[in-house]
Amino acid sequence: MKISAPKFMTDWKTGVVTGPEVQGVERRVRDLDGVFADEGAFSQLRPDRLVYRTACVFPVPEGTEGGVFWGTTFIEPGTVGAEYFMTKGHFHAKADRMESYFTFAGTGLLVLMDTARNCWAEEMTPGSTHLIPPYTAHRTVNTGDDVFSFGACWPSDAGHDYDSIAESGFSARAMRVDGSPVLVPA
Ligand code: 6PG
Ligand code: NI
Repeated sequence: MKISAPKFMTDWKTGVVTGPEVQGVERRVRDLDGVFADEGAFSQLRPDRLVYRTACVFPVPEGTEGGVFWGTTFIEPGTVGAEYFMTKGHFHAKADRMESYFTFAGTGLLVLMDTARNCWAEEMTPGSTHLIPPYTAHRTVNTGDDVFSFGACWPSDAGHDYDSIAESGFSARAMRVDGSPVLVPA
């Protein structure tokens, strides 16, 4: 029987994923209008400055029941005023779908919010492993001085609900206070 080389490789130190058809999105400052609290500080940033990007493997079409997706998110170090660079954040469109995250490099926070808008956060450091519960919005934050990267594995029918977050935000924000991250009520 045939033994073949792996189709995909994930570098466990950096999170870089290689293989056929690795695809991702880039989110630059110009894509993140309204995400950060300090609009004055936000307007000072170069619109094309990279905030985060993803490198993902989609083995089945989005929406397929029973499949899984795999990918890495890389968040650049930086702040908007006192607020750390972070992802937009979302509930899953099929809100009961869970997801797992695991950190490769850097330091960050996983900010979680339930449907009653209770917000909490878990520290992310290399090796940390996180299980995002059903019906829970999730956003990741780079609290360090280097690129923060983490892997994710999620159901291919989960989808993304960005609109709820665009409308109401999270009920807390990760801010740098005296040099350390604090979760501050929004
Ligand atoms: C997902 C994952 C993850 C996420 C990225 C970027 O459900 O696809 O949670 O891949 O999409 O970390 O974050 P945003 O999707 O919130 O921009
Ligand atoms: Ni998700």
